[in-house]
Amino acid sequence: MTETDFIPSAYPTIVLEGTVEWKSPSNIALVKYWGKKENQIPANPSISFTLDACATTTAVTYKKLKEKGANFSFDLSFEGKPKEDFKPKIEIFLARIEKYLPFLKSYHFNIDTSNSFPHSSGIASSASGMSALALCFMSLEKELNPEISANYFKNKASFLARLGSGSACRSIEGPLVQWGKHKNTNGSTDLFGIKYPHKVHPVFNNYQDTILLVDKGQKQVSSTVGHNLMHNHPYAAQRFAQAHTNLDDLQTVFEEGDLKKFIEIVESEALTLHAMMMTSMPYFILMKPNTLEIINKIWEFRTITKSNICFTLDAGANVHVLYPESEKEQAFQFIKDQLIAYCENEQYLCDRIGLGAKQLYN
Ligand code: PMV
Repeated sequence: MTETDFIPSAYPTIVLEGTVEWKSPSNIALVKYWGKKENQIPANPSISFTLDACATTTAVTYKKLKEKGANFSFDLSFEGKPKEDFKPKIEIFLARIEKYLPFLKSYHFNIDTSNSFPHSSGIASSASGMSALALCFMSLEKELNPEISANYFKNKASFLARLGSGSACRSIEGPLVQWGKHKNTNGSTDLFGIKYPHKVHPVFNNYQDTILLVDKGQKQVSSTVGHNLMHNHPYAAQRFAQAHTNLDDLQTVFEEGDLKKFIEIVESEALTLHAMMMTSMPYFILMKPNTLEIINKIWEFRTITKSNICFTLDAGANVHVLYPESEKEQAFQFIKDQLIAYCENEQYLCDRIGLGAKQLYN
């Protein structure tokens, strides 16, 4: 498939107005996407667990304009209140996807969005937010062309979400999504995320993710800046090669349910991501002292109890604590007793692997 496959020909149907609504989850990468080429093409393939509870719900009400406008016409509200400062980001997103959704300037849109996680929790809402919006626009495209297949619908939704925020393309489906060309994964592409096509051992069913909110402040370095610092990064080539190898190794891990090896790959990926940040020029650190305290506590607990609890990190100080459902009781007790003291205001979110976005209204 190529990008031009997503450019539609004339639509057979006229649609005057309506409302669509989607709920789209966040995701947490196991093999990290860090570094990109032009047009949000990833420098290496990545794979993620789709989450369940952390999600964005977006409703889009559309009304056809008398004439196609020169600009995009939309109002935006967040949790029921107008949110002017989100508009420039949406405007950029609309400009990027217009080529693939040529109807965008022919409608006025009311976009109403809300997150299930607390505002300013340090949880990035771009993956869930951009995927929810992309799905709403795809629902309108489906009205305009009812012939669209289910496969085309989800691939294009992921493709569009990618243009909003790279990792958002992994939030359409679940429970495991791979994005980026990888020689041992059939159907993998840089253009959109695909449902992981290989065997997955039942030990990964309902895998748990408790997100420890270590620092709820604004990140000092955005992921856009971080990705760009991978250009001319002294370790970039090795890092990108390592992601391919880790995906190969994970294939066996998922098949056999080898949690020891899973932990090794996932924790190494998290620390490598942050090592890339620390070795960029300019260099930066997004972990906080409490991030390291938590990591050390997890290692200590694992040594003592032989538990399969482990951590991963995204581009921030928060820690995602991952563990199999069968160890939920023991792991959660440990988190409450020993880890939440390191969270800002003792805040954490309980999540688990999820099955992808859901349409709430059409
Ligand atoms: O989607 P972006 O541009 O915000 O980048 C996300 C990067 C990481 O969260 C650090 C890794 C990943 O693969 O999600």
